[in-house]
Amino acid sequence: MPAQVRRADFLMALAYATDLATGHSRDFALRSCVLAMRFADVAHLDQDVRRRIYHQALLRYIGCNADTHLLAAHWGDEITLRRELHHVDMGNRAEFVELLVRTLKRKFAGAPPEELEEAVKRGLAEGPQVNIAVLSGHCEVAQRIAERIGLPEDLRESLGQIYERWDGKGMPRGLSGNAVKFPVRVVTMAQDAIALSDHHGFAAMKEMIAKRAGGGYEGELVDLFLTHAEELFAGLDGPADRETILALEPEPHAMFDEAACEEAYLAIADMIDMRMPFTFGHSRAVASLASAAAKQMGLPASDISDVRRAAYTHDVGELTVPVSTWMRAGPLTERETDEAHLHPYHGERMLASLGSGGKAVASLVQRHHERLDGSGYHRNSRSPDLSPAARVLAAAEAFQTAREARPYRPAMSDAAAAARLREAVKQGKLCPDAVEAVLAAAGQPARRASSTGIAGLTPREIEVLRLIAGGDTAKEAARKLEIAPKTADNHIQSLYSKIGVTTRAGAALFALEQGLVV
Ligand SMILES: [Fe+2]
Repeated sequence: MPAQVRRADFLMALAYATDLATGHSRDFALRSCVLAMRFADVAHLDQDVRRRIYHQALLRYIGCNADTHLLAAHWGDEITLRRELHHVDMGNRAEFVELLVRTLKRKFAGAPPEELEEAVKRGLAEGPQVNIAVLSGHCEVAQRIAERIGLPEDLRESLGQIYERWDGKGMPRGLSGNAVKFPVRVVTMAQDAIALSDHHGFAAMKEMIAKRAGGGYEGELVDLFLTHAEELFAGLDGPADRETILALEPEPHAMFDEAACEEAYLAIADMIDMRMPFTFGHSRAVASLASAAAKQMGLPASDISDVRRAAYTHDVGELTVPVSTWMRAGPLTERETDEAHLHPYHGERMLASLGSGGKAVASLVQRHHERLDGSGYHRNSRSPDLSPAARVLAAAEAFQTAREARPYRPAMSDAAAAARLREAVKQGKLCPDAVEAVLAAAGQPARRASSTGIAGLTPREIEVLRLIAGGDTAKEAARKLEIAPKTADNHIQSLYSKIGVTTRAGAALFALEQGLVV
């Protein structure tokens, strides 16, 4: 990770995650950002308003993962509900109630008719209270996450109004007219326009937006939008790329230093884990175990940082699977299992939004459920593809998950979780060094002498080896790592002798065999 990264890259990663969690189409938030910024152009808005619109479009749903278990407990599959909500005018009571009835019928499918009728009646009566409590929580969490990633107060205020409407029929406060912040009014209309166009087509979208003028949206904004709809939507049916979004960010472009990056990763971890009580704090705990274990194994500082950040974000792809599925005590269906097993893939794609800075982290996230014998998922990778950092992350994730409760089993004691991991080592699934390092980090008694790392190499020597495997000569590697020229030869010879090779090619092959080349 370079010392400085664009904050907008993190916003895109967050936008990717929230698109998944809210059932939106691919690149929904990014496309809405393009549309809203084009609208800002035709409305001749100043730079300050443009900046607020840009952030509102990318971050609108960052709080919407909080307390998802409450939504799921009441309404069932919350992702399908959210997807359908995007097409409904929530100010139109008949339309809204029809959707809620359909949702409850889906949740109670298979119940006898009288029970179904009773469940729907009760669900509708209690629904508003559930919705207001959960949506208020979304707004508050969005504001706190925005603060943690350094967004100023005016942007945070807008994120606290994401469900409010021009006509006052929104939630949770029922604000109306100009009390609803301008960026909220613009972005709500832009995002609905994208969702409606995706679902009903461009012509129908225009009709529906026109019908909602003075209702969900400010009439003047609707008029301007419809006047320019064709040019505003040009090319928006395809994906939006990273460069386009970076280019749209009003100047000055905010940058993250190392400390701000770390906080942003932590904010993503908390966002992921807030959806269910039993995942609360999971990613932080995995990160703490994995980074301590990586340090004990003598991995270089860059690997320790990557493994910690991968631990913060490893389960972001789980947002694609409804919480109602994770919360069920019974077994998953085959289809649900397939979807659940793809979460490392979706996690990798989200981190790819960070550009080259997120590549090593993305690679670890993609492997966090892989096992040395090929029995993991989702690629069934085997030991040669699993770097020491990947092995540490897998062991830390397995240990932490075992000692947390799940709906289908109680939490294991630390001792029982340790026994489970050592059994997995015996079966050839988990790396013995990584498991012992994780268990030591968790305060478990050691079973054997602690590992001396990879062939007794120091973190510095591992870095040299990586550069050599990447094509550098021994001298070039020494120069890049600022090893004094006088001692460079001795340093390299000592390294070669430790790993039993005599040539650059031999050293490169060793690095490959040890999984040191990601
Ligand atoms: Fe996972």
